[in-house]
Amino acid sequence: MSASDIKIITVIGSGLIGRSWAMLFASGGYRVKIYDNQPGQSAKAITEIKKQLVELEEAHMLRGELTAMQQLALLSGYDDLSQALEGAFFVQECVFEQLEVKQSVFHDIERIVGKDVILSSSTSCLVPSKVFSKVQNRSRCLVSHPVNPPYHVKLVELVPHPDTAATVMDTTHALMTKVGQAPVLLKKEIDGFALNRVQAAIIAESWRLVQDGFISVKDIDLVMSEGLGMRYALIGPMETMHLNAPKEEMGIKMSQRSQEF
Ligand SMILES: NC(=O)c1ccc[n+]([C@@H]2O[C@H](COP(=O)([O-])OP(=O)(O)OC[C@H]3O[C@@H](n4cnc5c(N)ncnc54)[C@H](O)[C@@H]3O)[C@@H](O)[C@H]2O)c1
Ligand SMILES: *[C@@H]1O[C@H](CO)[C@@H](O)[C@H](O)[C@H]1NC(C)=O
Repeated sequence: MSASDIKIITVIGSGLIGRSWAMLFASGGYRVKIYDNQPGQSAKAITEIKKQLVELEEAHMLRGELTAMQQLALLSGYDDLSQALEGAFFVQECVFEQLEVKQSVFHDIERIVGKDVILSSSTSCLVPSKVFSKVQNRSRCLVSHPVNPPYHVKLVELVPHPDTAATVMDTTHALMTKVGQAPVLLKKEIDGFALNRVQAAIIAESWRLVQDGFISVKDIDLVMSEGLGMRYALIGPMETMHLNAPKEEMGIKMSQRSQEF
């Protein structure tokens, strides 16, 4: 493969999550152009990434087929947005979690990139219809929400804008799979996406049991760490119900349960 065949991804924002995405995309053999609006910040990010790649290689935990130095060679840093976006087919935004900042970043990006470039946001809490409200062509936009630390936790929630094209979801799903992440598709946007909603339900019930005096804080945590958590680390709640936990065994009727939430 010649250098010009290597596809380019631009990462916008070089903080914790931007650096993680850059490492993941490079591990999959993509050229990664990193932009940060703080002058010199993207160069600092690459120095930091170099340190991490070398440590990961020494610990035999480096991802992908390439060596640490080969992956490092795929990275470049930019203080200029247009230069950073040149040639990219995919843009992963990782700036501060502030709606106005993200809206204005995507507004600027759209004016520079070609019409087929996919615009993806790392937002944890903002729905796509808000993040992309200043973008004209929203069919190319989605949220790709990673879980910290993304280099070690593979889940990525892919959340469409109401206008997002199916091909954009498919291409992003294939990209995430190619770099070794585990993408899940939400069929439509909802606050909290899936992970944070499931987490909120677990916390709400745990808190209620503690508050109503049924169990101690320490013991409700043990219910998860020594019990449910071990099962859920391997199979999800649906598969658990299907395989080995008849509803009666769970001590509550599911119909009753769904009325409570
Ligand atoms: N940290 C987490 O655990 C986590 C997990 C999942 C998703 N996220 C999401 O990822 C995004 C980034 O989070 P983070 O923890 O990396 O933040 P961070 O504060 O570490 O990094 C943000 C970076 O963006 C840069 N930046 C700010 N405004 C910019 C602009 N207009 N243009 C270019 N660069 C700009 C900053 O200089 C900084 O380097 C947020 O939306 C956050 O919600 C974070
Ligand atoms: C909008 O984006 C889609 C998906 O990237 C693209 O195929 C289409 O050509 C774009 N439309 C316009 C008018 O730019």
